[in-house]
Amino acid sequence: MYVCLCKGVTDKTIRAAVADGVSSMRELRQQYGVATQCGCCTSCAKDVLKEAVSER
Ligand code: FES
Repeated sequence: MYVCLCKGVTDKTIRAAVADGVSSMRELRQQYGVATQCGCCTSCAKDVLKEAVSER
């Protein structure tokens, strides 16, 4: 599912990013642009990130 529509980032992309070492919203923002436009996805992106990190 799409987490960030503005940047076309899916939960799968976020999980793959976490598997590659990403562990913060700052890194997700810098590397994928998540939450850098409208910001609507911030809380959903945080949830997916948190879940993926806890499963690592
Ligand atoms: Fe992510 Fe707009 S949906 S910045």
